[in-house]
Amino acid sequence: MSDRLFIFDTTLRDGEQVPGCQLNTVEKIQVAKQLEALGVDVIEAGFPISSPGDFNSVIEISKAVTWPTICALTRAVQKDIDVAADALRYAKRKRIHTGIGTSDSHIKYKFNSNREEIIERAVAAVKYARRFVDDVEFYAEDAGRTENEYLARVVEAVIKAGATVVNIPDTTGYCLPEEYGAKIKYLMDHVDGIDRAILSTHCHNDLGMATANTISGVLNGARQVEVTINGIGERAGNTSLEEVAMILRCHKHLNIDTNINTQKICPTSRMVSSLMNMPVQPNKAIVGRNAFAHSSGIHQDGVLKNVQTYEIIDPKDVGIDDNAIVLTARSGRAALKHRLGVLGVELSQEKLDKVYEDFLKLADKKKDITDDDILVLAGADRTLNHHIKLEYLQVTSGVGVRSVASLGLNISGEHFEAAATGNGPVDAAIKAMKQIIRRQMTLKEFTIQAISKGSDDVGKVHMQVEYDGQMYYGFGANTDIVAASVEAYIDCINKFKK
Ligand code: KIV
Ligand code: ZN
Repeated sequence: MSDRLFIFDTTLRDGEQVPGCQLNTVEKIQVAKQLEALGVDVIEAGFPISSPGDFNSVIEISKAVTWPTICALTRAVQKDIDVAADALRYAKRKRIHTGIGTSDSHIKYKFNSNREEIIERAVAAVKYARRFVDDVEFYAEDAGRTENEYLARVVEAVIKAGATVVNIPDTTGYCLPEEYGAKIKYLMDHVDGIDRAILSTHCHNDLGMATANTISGVLNGARQVEVTINGIGERAGNTSLEEVAMILRCHKHLNIDTNINTQKICPTSRMVSSLMNMPVQPNKAIVGRNAFAHSSGIHQDGVLKNVQTYEIIDPKDVGIDDNAIVLTARSGRAALKHRLGVLGVELSQEKLDKVYEDFLKLADKKKDITDDDILVLAGADRTLNHHIKLEYLQVTSGVGVRSVASLGLNISGEHFEAAATGNGPVDAAIKAMKQIIRRQMTLKEFTIQAISKGSDDVGKVHMQVEYDGQMYYGFGANTDIVAASVEAYIDCINKFKK
């Protein structure tokens, strides 16, 4: 008989803290429903006191989702807990996740307090949360750097106060796998009443050890893991759901099962990546574009003889459709719709018609249409609500000459034109745009990514522009990288608050 491991997904809370990746409520509901279909046990839907948007998202996700527990984060503060309880009012199963820093540096610098007072605050928060819900999770922030003996006292006190789950976060991603596993074992062995609660892992990836630490925690007794899709999250991210789920599936001898429907992993990964405009690194385990691509002659030869020679996971097990329909200029709407469905994107008929039109134009220019091209096209109508639109762009550039760009912008229905020279075509185009949009803005970051192999590929551009003390994030995609750069710049400007 195998042990059950609970999957707590925090893509919509810790994952969503990534700069520039914020989702609106409609998008969060879409992700939450996909997480439900994936089979996660708990969805951490937000930190309700942090903003009206988060508060509202927790309410709407609670209404939209049926069987996973909906969890809301709080500090160990009564007002936070009141607001979280209110936001959870429609949830069929609900959990309040409250907590406080327990490492010496948190106690001293964050709270200017002492160990005894922190235990009192932790206990008070758990007791207060239990007035509203039966399921209360406590987090000991920076538990990774908290001395084990003191941590055991905190854990024992909060379980006694009514915590049903106790989260042991390695908040800074500092621990070594052996050290983190030993911490969980120490708690399992030394906390009175540990059988009345579940220990949870929550590992960050600052040293690239989040998944290893999580697995080490599980091997030592943790029965809940806190994870995100694609491992997104603060700084270097959180433990990725797909890695943990597939490790346990590949290593059946561990006798630990999850409720994850692994065939939904890749569609979920793509949905999150596309809604958050956050590309997945090609060599990312399980969900990266190259995760199942064999390129060397020796590997290809082996795989052709028997896939087991170089493959430990059947791509179909994570939802990669081996028999993908190849999209060409002769494909119909049904083929496009099928492919989008496989990629986790559902569109209304009206949107599908628009994407199909764009797809036909692209297929005329480019013989090999990739999944990433399709995802970019599906997001293309992101510009529908833009009040500034690019009407045309012409650039001349070369070696030994200054680049020249002329462009036309439509700003709320009015037409503007400008031309400028620059150090390169993108510089010239941005200077021309600045002549029309006279604002003090500074380009802070500029990344160009070609999606696959060909020179006819779609280029994706991510930009960060600073304006009026705030950072704005923009995205553009085009077979012409200068046009993609201009689109990304315009995307930023369209988001300016004034
Ligand atoms: O990393 C962390 O410590 C957290 C807690 C708020 C759970 O995200
Ligand atoms: Zn975290």
